[in-house]
Amino acid sequence: MIQDRYTVLASVYDFFFNDDYTDRIYKSQKKELLNLFSDRKASELDVLEVGCGTGRMTLKLLDFKSVTAIDASSEMLSVLETKIRKLENKPFLLQTDFLELEFTKKFDIVIMCLDVFNYFSRDEVQKVFEKAQLLLNDGGVFAFDFSSEYKLRDELGDNTIAQDFDDFAFIWENSLNEELQCVNFDFTLFERQDNGLYRKSTERHRQYIHKLSDVIAEGRLFFDSYTVYKDYILESFDLDKIHCDEDGCPDRYYVYFKKGK
Ligand SMILES: C[S@@+](CC[C@H](N)C(=O)[O-])C[C@H]1O[C@@H](n2cnc3c(N)ncnc32)[C@H](O)[C@@H]1O
Repeated sequence: MIQDRYTVLASVYDFFFNDDYTDRIYKSQKKELLNLFSDRKASELDVLEVGCGTGRMTLKLLDFKSVTAIDASSEMLSVLETKIRKLENKPFLLQTDFLELEFTKKFDIVIMCLDVFNYFSRDEVQKVFEKAQLLLNDGGVFAFDFSSEYKLRDELGDNTIAQDFDDFAFIWENSLNEELQCVNFDFTLFERQDNGLYRKSTERHRQYIHKLSDVIAEGRLFFDSYTVYKDYILESFDLDKIHCDEDGCPDRYYVYFKKGK
C-alpha cells in the first residue's frame, strides 16, 4: 500500500536532516528575517510557520512574540509535539493544509522552510501568495525557499538513492514527469522489528519545478518588494545574472517578499 507523504518518513525524518548544515541555514533565514524588521525586535513579531514538519525551524523561533505552526501531516506534528511537551513557551500547533487554512488572526511573518513551496503545483502558487498576503499585517514578510529546477531535474531527476543502516534501510526512487513539470518520489522504508523481521512501507511525494522568474513575477502581483538569495551562503545576487554555467546552478533559492505599509 502506498501511503500519503510524510506518514512513513516522519519516524526517520530527523535522522536525515538534523544536521549542522541545515541548522546554519535556519539561523541565516532567521537573521535575514530580523534584518527585514530593523525597527522591531523578535519579541514584537507574530510568526506563522507553514509545513513546520518536526519543528527544526519552529524551535528556533520561540523567542518571537508568538509562533503558530501548521502542517498537513499529523505524523510530523506528533514528532514535534514530543519535542515541545516540556517547554513553557510552546508554539501553537495545527494540522491543516495551508490552502485550507482559515484564520482571522494576522501575522508579521509567514515562513515556509525546506521545500514546502515545491509541494505546491504551478496552478496553486497564485493561491499560496494570495493566502500569505491576506494572513500578513502591513509591513509583514512572506519568507520561503525552494529547490531549483536544476536540483529537481538534474540532481534528483530519475535517480534512485538507497541506504542501509543498523535498524532501517530505505529506497528513494525518483521519476521526472516532464508533462506535469514535477518529480515524483517513492520513499520505501524497511524498519527492523523486535522479532528481527523488517516491515516495509512506501509513501509517495510530488515536488513541482518552479522557475525563479515565474515565482518572482507571481509574487510581485501580491507584494511590494522582495529579496532573493541563492544557496546556503545567503549571498545576494542579481536576478538578471542567473544562468547555468561552469560555476554550477544553485540548488535552492531563498525568497523574502514584503507587504507594503
Ligand atoms: C521537507 S518537509 C519540511 C519540514 C520543515 N519545514 C523542515 O524545515 O524540516 C515539508 C513539510 O511540508 C508539509 N506540507 C507539504 N505541503 C503542505 C501543505 N499544503 N500544507 C501544510 N503542510 C504541508 C509536509 O507535511 C512536510 O512536513
